[in-house]
Amino acid sequence: MATYGRTTRQGLPRVAGGEPWPPVFEIAGGAAAPTEVDEASAPAAVADVSAPVATAATVAQAAVPAAAPTSRAVRRGLPRVPGGEPWPPASAAPLAATAATVEVPVSTATDVPAAAPPVEPLTAVSTATAASAPSAAGGTALRRGLPRTPDGEPWPPAGSAPARPDRVVAAPVLESAPEPVSEPVLEPNPEPVIAPAAAAAPAPAPQRTPMQPPRRPVAVAAASARPAAEPWPKLYGPYSRAEWAGALVIGGFGLLLAATGVVVGVNWLLGLAPMEEFIARYPGEYHLPESAPVGIPAWIGWQHFFNVFLIVLIIRSGLEVRTQKRPTAFWSPRWNSKRKISLSLWFHQSLDILWLVNGVVFVVLLFMTGQWMRLVPTSWEVFPNALSALLQYLSLDWPTENGWVNYNSLQQIAYFVTVFIAAPLAVITGVRMSGLWPKNAKTLNRIYPVEWARAVHFPVMLYFVLFIIVHVGLVFATGALRNLNHMYASQDVVNWTGFWIFVASLVVIAAAWVAARPLVLAPIARLFGKVSGR
Ligand code: HEM
Ligand code: HEM
Repeated sequence: MATYGRTTRQGLPRVAGGEPWPPVFEIAGGAAAPTEVDEASAPAAVADVSAPVATAATVAQAAVPAAAPTSRAVRRGLPRVPGGEPWPPASAAPLAATAATVEVPVSTATDVPAAAPPVEPLTAVSTATAASAPSAAGGTALRRGLPRTPDGEPWPPAGSAPARPDRVVAAPVLESAPEPVSEPVLEPNPEPVIAPAAAAAPAPAPQRTPMQPPRRPVAVAAASARPAAEPWPKLYGPYSRAEWAGALVIGGFGLLLAATGVVVGVNWLLGLAPMEEFIARYPGEYHLPESAPVGIPAWIGWQHFFNVFLIVLIIRSGLEVRTQKRPTAFWSPRWNSKRKISLSLWFHQSLDILWLVNGVVFVVLLFMTGQWMRLVPTSWEVFPNALSALLQYLSLDWPTENGWVNYNSLQQIAYFVTVFIAAPLAVITGVRMSGLWPKNAKTLNRIYPVEWARAVHFPVMLYFVLFIIVHVGLVFATGALRNLNHMYASQDVVNWTGFWIFVASLVVIAAAWVAARPLVLAPIARLFGKVSGR
């Protein structure tokens, strides 16, 4: 058995301008450890893949083929406890060599005869030296890995490993090769190693025999190592987020430009004499009949609130019905468990009934109180006045609002269409699609096919959405506090009362919106029929 000297690779100094670390005296560990470790040659002794190949090669060349006592190097790492000794302890060095051996032998490949007999890992000692002294150690040991079968022997089996050149990194070879090693640490009987020899060492590129467990192909490994980032940006519809943002900016800019053009054009138009005359004749509103009431009573405020509350949830549930692919809960009437509808559609239709009742009460009261005259046009003058109001809106010189007394003609038409055209359309198309409609009325169904209802119902919703956006926008843009007082506090003054009542109504609507989920809806639906899962 060879004797081992211990060396440690010296690294960077611990302080700026200091000595390489660890200091030389700390290195002396094993029996024959040569204390005067040459810094340049130190890496050669390191049993480590990262050891510069050329250095290892050099050492190998320097080694005598005889069974010379070999120095054995183990890199000692950081202490295991603060202030402790470098790890592993000096005494443990030979054992640690086992594993270390595997990693080294770049030089081995260069110098060792291919048929070098395998070495038992535990006896496989000094790497470079052992490799180049086949008679002593007989070859390079392989690190044995996990067994191939449960409870099996470590792989590869002991003794099966031929001399194995290890990983070779070409670049470091050439880099470190030219350094002549004047005093190989591990060489007890040193032949002076001179630069050319060292330089020549790396020339025949060491062949690598893949003895380690098969590695994944580089591409696969690289692919799995790649960050999960998607190579392409996520698409929202036809465009990515950035493209949408770009389109929005460009589209918005275009719209702004077009709007500016319209405002300038309409102002120019209204400056023309005939148009001035037209506006004077049709100021945007016409006089209501003498009998028309003044002001907005509280009941209209309440009806308006219920309407807003219900229609928000109706639109929400309608869109749910439209987009739902696999409803999670169903409702069926108690008297007919075969007729199943989704819980969303049940909610939609239940709200519809309430909305319809509210609407009917509203219309009846409108006609009982004469309030209808504010919503139903009573003169053909409504049309030129509506055009006049539109032009005034477009010129940004808006018609003076006095909703307390009279709506402008455009407003009147919009309210009329909403209450007397859009709402009934939603009802008759909705009922056509619902279970209320008689399925077997053949003639009726031929005259009014369900496809028509389906084709109209959704655009009606779009109309409502558009109306609400423009309506609320104008309520806020044409004297918010006064308008909100009209509708939410039944008074024609400018203060915050109506505004705060409006905010409270929004809180109620938001709470209902949040609550409108199967967990809350199912128990309510159960009161009126049977609720089942998918
Ligand atoms: C948060 C939403 C809403 C607000 C803040 C709001 C506000 C108002 C206000 C302030 C008025 C009176 C206008 C004035 O005095 O000049 C009004 C009238 C009206 N709004 Fe709304 N509204 C909203 C939503 C809706 C919705 C969703 C509808 C119908 C789908 C609607 C239909 C009407 C109708 C028909 C009138 C005329 C009522 C009458 O005078 O009899 N509003 N609204
Ligand atoms: C009495 C009034 C209403 C009734 C009876 C009613 C009834 C229905 C029914 C039965 C459906 C299911 C259609 C299907 O099976 O595909 C439906 C869908 C829908 N409803 Fe209504 N609805 C009414 C009012 C409204 C209102 C006022 C709105 C919106 C302002 C609305 C918005 C929708 C939407 C967006 C859908 C989905 C349409 C689609 O799938 O294309 N509904 N409604």
